[in-house]
Amino acid sequence: MDELKNDRYLRALLRQPVDMTPVWMMRQAGRYLPEYQATRAEAGDFMSLCKNAELACEVTLQPLRRYPLDAAILFSDILTIPDAMGLGLYFEQGEGPRFERPLLSFGDITKLPIPDPEQELVYVMNAVRTIRKNLRGEVPLIGFSGSPWTLATYMVEGGSSKSFTKIKKLMYTEPKSLHLLLDKLADSVTLYLNAQIRAGVQAVMIFDTWGGVLTGNGYREFSLAYMHKIIDGLLRENEGRRVPVTLFTKGGGQWLAQMAQTGCDALGLDWSTDIGDARRLVGNKVALQGNMDPSILYAQPQRIEQEAAEILAGFGFGEGHVFNLGHGIHQDVPPENACVLVEAVHRLSRPYHP
Ligand code: CP3
Repeated sequence: MDELKNDRYLRALLRQPVDMTPVWMMRQAGRYLPEYQATRAEAGDFMSLCKNAELACEVTLQPLRRYPLDAAILFSDILTIPDAMGLGLYFEQGEGPRFERPLLSFGDITKLPIPDPEQELVYVMNAVRTIRKNLRGEVPLIGFSGSPWTLATYMVEGGSSKSFTKIKKLMYTEPKSLHLLLDKLADSVTLYLNAQIRAGVQAVMIFDTWGGVLTGNGYREFSLAYMHKIIDGLLRENEGRRVPVTLFTKGGGQWLAQMAQTGCDALGLDWSTDIGDARRLVGNKVALQGNMDPSILYAQPQRIEQEAAEILAGFGFGEGHVFNLGHGIHQDVPPENACVLVEAVHRLSRPYHP
């Protein structure tokens, strides 16, 4: 494999010195880019795009052609695992993801298979291999998965939800069934992420988008415990380098200290947590990724730069910061504004890395 030309992102995750703060954006490949829209139209629909290694590679690289980003992220989705378990994922125009066969009973959960990543999910591994080849060592490639809790919310609700009543009813009335589901998902995610690492991803991130809807006790029992189990089973070194793991619970700012005890290398922050407070809380235990409100990208360049400067100052001197948005980029953001942000982070962060 090629020597990595820019390893700023991997170094920052391991709290090693860098020349400037690395930056990437959640959902950096997506609908705000006209070239993405064109490639998706060519593929037909979103899942066909994910299943075509050449086109998935093309959309992964699109944002890197526009901006000096410090990492690429595999183009795929967290819902590939439930799809591979047989739930029948589809996307309804403007309504987000849906399942043809959501989980309705304990029997449905006991019957769920644990997918073999090199069989049912081989299209993801093929995308990873194609992207790594085409990246030519320019920047590292990030692999990812959803957390068991977040995947379970979609599988039980049958799609996106606002109130999570179905999964919470299961949690409070049949906790054993939910634990069985989460356990199967943790095993599936572990196999899936390890296969991504073997196929060539150089860091992994676990998206726990819906952990924040739980109570503190609920979070520990139904989300954090399973992410901890995954981390315990991950390959931590490949190609002679450590493979850093980032945990991101949206709305999880109050649980950062517990998250830092899982053995992960970094924590992702949404914008509701002050990054300086987060750093004081976790100390030197883990790196931090975040945490600009994605809606700032609607503002004028000067306002975007001001926000980047405030977040860099909030983290302060020393190592261990990966700049990112606090959640995915919005689909109606002008692409030029993303350029303003990425360039500002590099320029304004130099003084923090003397
Ligand atoms: O970040 C990247 O550029 C990599 C690609 C990526 C996608 N989804 C592509 C995608 C990643 C990392 C994800 C993760 C994902 N998917 C999460 C966790 C992160 C988060 O946003 O909280 C979640 C919850 C999902 C589930 C999902 N997939 C939803 C809710 C949707 C619909 C979103 C919408 O706005 O309609 C998707 C579809 C999806 N995944 C799109 C993209 C680019 C949009 C599909 C399209 O082209 O229409």
